[in-house]
Amino acid sequence: MTKMVRSVLMFAVAASLAGTLAFADSGEATYKAKCSTCHGSTGTPSPGIAKMMGVKPASDPSIKALSVAEMTAAVKNGKGKMKPVAGLTDAQIKDVVTYFRSLK
Ligand code: HEC
Repeated sequence: MTKMVRSVLMFAVAASLAGTLAFADSGEATYKAKCSTCHGSTGTPSPGIAKMMGVKPASDPSIKALSVAEMTAAVKNGKGKMKPVAGLTDAQIKDVVTYFRSLK
């Protein structure tokens, strides 16, 4: 009996850990860690950053007009004052671009 309780607990711990890891890998988590300093937590940069660096809100028509490939290139190679964002796998870039495109 105790053994069974223990394995149920182990399973619960493993499941919650898996949940955390999946979250840490999501586009949203990557965005918050790697992009939100400049692009703002909701895709709208703070007025100071917007003015200083020329960051447009994710909702701007010129940003909405960009293709996935163009956004991926901006993250990988940088664009204007945006430096290439280091330390991301291709999968993370794909997820973060998808997340960025979902911001209004
Ligand atoms: C150091 C600040 C900074 C960080 C960090 C940053 N960006 Fe940017 N980003 C900028 C600036 C500044 C621009 C405007 C570049 C320009 O057009 O001159 C920009 C532009 C963009 C554009 C539009 C590119 C285009 O072709 O007009 C996209 C898409 C973008 N960023 C996505 C991201 C994503 C996704 C991340 C995180 C992985 C990120 N950025 C991290 C500063 C940053």
